[in-house]
Amino acid sequence: MSRYTYRLMATDGMARRGELTTAHGVVRTPAFMPVGTQGTVKAMYTDQVRETGADVVLGNTYHLMLRPGAERVARLGGLHHFMNWPHTILTDSGGFQVMSLAQLRKLDDIGVRFRSHLDGAEHVLTPERSIEIQGLLGADIQMQLDECIRLPASEDEVARAMRLSLHWAERSKVAFEAMGGPDKGQGLHGIVQGGDVKSLRVESARALSAMDFGGYSIGGLAVGEPQDVMLDMLETTLPELPEDKPRYLMGVGTPEDILESVARGIDMFDCVLPTRAGRHGLAYTRFGKINLKNARHADDPRPLDADSDCPAARDYSRAYLHHLVKAGEALSMMLLTWNNLAYYQSLMAGMREAISTGTFADFREETLQGWAKGDI
Ligand code: GUN
Repeated sequence: MSRYTYRLMATDGMARRGELTTAHGVVRTPAFMPVGTQGTVKAMYTDQVRETGADVVLGNTYHLMLRPGAERVARLGGLHHFMNWPHTILTDSGGFQVMSLAQLRKLDDIGVRFRSHLDGAEHVLTPERSIEIQGLLGADIQMQLDECIRLPASEDEVARAMRLSLHWAERSKVAFEAMGGPDKGQGLHGIVQGGDVKSLRVESARALSAMDFGGYSIGGLAVGEPQDVMLDMLETTLPELPEDKPRYLMGVGTPEDILESVARGIDMFDCVLPTRAGRHGLAYTRFGKINLKNARHADDPRPLDADSDCPAARDYSRAYLHHLVKAGEALSMMLLTWNNLAYYQSLMAGMREAISTGTFADFREETLQGWAKGDI
């Protein structure tokens, strides 16, 4: 059984090329993890997700505990088997989703009590129960329960949530070890909080580093602050984290956010953007974003990107995609999601190659120019 380990293979400036080994395979970093909230990357077959180049997908404790239930997934052989994804799975701990989706939330030191957005039933999520659920699902990479607050928020409020998250980090680690996570090759991440307050970010990162997690996630960003604030927080936080552990920026982001965050030393990302935007008629390409709803595509025989390896980008005209989007056809969601995930993965592969060859600065410049030039 492989242990959860990270190997740093090359650096270029602050950017890092590495490999993360889990019991279900090797994750090439920098990595983008498609979001599979309900045990499915929406509108995609798992084989297709794999073919775009994904090494890991993300599942959600909050959704899966409510439906179909973690104990049921465990009885049915675990999440890998249940969703037919034999590669690495990362799960979020649930706190973030409780805050955005559940009703009648009540948070205290013990955990968070809430009503399900599905049927109003009451549930309690504690750090220990979150780890138990992630273990039942069989997640290779697990997250501590934390409290993420929206920005802007007062410094007192940010400090309170960060210190509560530190307290929950300790309890999560004890539970993870008691449940034998490390023996199953699983890894647990602590989550850095601290909002937009540098001193709180540093305090959080130092305290978590001292607890010695398998990896470190950066939470509480891309929650309403401008991009330069987010990047500033990364520049403050990352030097406080150990170099021999992976760093995961949670819930980020646009292709540009990802490029700029890799430049500052982030290794892993997840975001609903490529999948959600794909279901709303938006394509991400080398030439920037293309809104297929726009009437200017109605007579355009060109594919999204004739040079792409992805059939969705290469083999269907913009006119046809425009038609599918306007007609509300399921195939528009399937093709655009596929295109977007393939584009995100090609961006990650390009960055990995550039870091390995010491050409990241050139790659960054060319990629930014491509987006700025547009698709004509
Ligand atoms: N997803 C995006 N941001 C966060 C965060 O701060 N915490 C957790 N648990 N998940 C997230």
